[in-house]
Amino acid sequence: MPSSVPDGRNQTGSSVDRIRLRRPDDWHVHLRDGAILRSVVNHTARQFARAIVMPNLRPPVTTAAAAAAYRDRILSAVDPGLAFTPLMTCYLTDTLDPLEVERGFAEGVFAACKLYPANATTNSAHGVTDVRNLHGVLEVMQRIGMPLLIHGEVTDRHIDIFDREAVFIERVLVKLLADFPGLKVVFEHITTAEAVAFVEAAGPNLAATITPHHLHINRNAMFEGGIRPHFYCLPVAKREPHRLALRKAAVSGSPKFFLGTDSAPHPAADKEAACGCAGIFNSPCALESYAMVFEEEGALSRFAAFASENGPRFYGLPLNEGFVELERLPHPVPARMTLGDQEIVPFHAGETLRWSISGLEGLEKS
Ligand code: DOR
Ligand code: ZN
Repeated sequence: MPSSVPDGRNQTGSSVDRIRLRRPDDWHVHLRDGAILRSVVNHTARQFARAIVMPNLRPPVTTAAAAAAYRDRILSAVDPGLAFTPLMTCYLTDTLDPLEVERGFAEGVFAACKLYPANATTNSAHGVTDVRNLHGVLEVMQRIGMPLLIHGEVTDRHIDIFDREAVFIERVLVKLLADFPGLKVVFEHITTAEAVAFVEAAGPNLAATITPHHLHINRNAMFEGGIRPHFYCLPVAKREPHRLALRKAAVSGSPKFFLGTDSAPHPAADKEAACGCAGIFNSPCALESYAMVFEEEGALSRFAAFASENGPRFYGLPLNEGFVELERLPHPVPARMTLGDQEIVPFHAGETLRWSISGLEGLEKS
């Protein structure tokens, strides 16, 4: 099986038709719970060996016991035959006991903690009102080497929604990193050139995930010919120069940037509403979507770094053993999908992508 070769061209100069990739991981995903979990998780498990699972359920996952129970529900929803490891996260609140975090990490239940500023996004009402309330927890995390995953937006209503990420850097992140220089931090789903520059300039303890949707769309997508709720997510997509900065960072090969889909399904009816929910469901075609970006940027030789290597290295986990193969084959994405008893509109709905997953090696359970 030919492996991917530099920049989408083979030795004779024609374009590459196959990409062979060490099995990737998704370092940020929303799998939800209940009836929909079974359909949602298998879209992820078919492509990714591991995933960092977001804890913003109702109620949020704030104890090791709740995370272990959620992990069991996820595992029993995965199709038999697919090897998939959910990596659980703890939802930080103003009053969380540092001992719970330490115990959950020591027991191997929690892989990381997630910081949602209170009311920043979906199910974040119990989030943190002031980072000063977290000092005890962050001290423990720094000491035990547990990563902090940040939704980096201020929630101040006086700050323009398109500026909330950049202002978060100035108002919160700079001080947090200075106060906890040994803490490993992932700036999740970055959307701005400011975030790219900040991550690049920071020390090795700061990294960032980048979603497929923020690599494909800018804010115009939400308003093309009318309101397009299926392109609305948080942080919201920004202007074109920001998208271009994100693409450059993702394909740069820098170990500081890695794959995190932020796939976040909502029933179509909850998005096509007077007050539509934030979130884009991209997991049915996430890898194919990222592959298009790397190909368009002439950077297929750096796809494996972004998708399969930088994340585990940052988290201190082994690289996966298996491989996945993508083939240049038309990949039609349905306009709507039924998941459990819900209709959902996926990212790229109605489009035909250029890549399809054609082979999985070492991906199934033996
Ligand atoms: O768009 C988003 N949807 N952003 C988030 O941070 C949360 C997510 C969700 O859970 O739906
Ligand atoms: Zn998310």
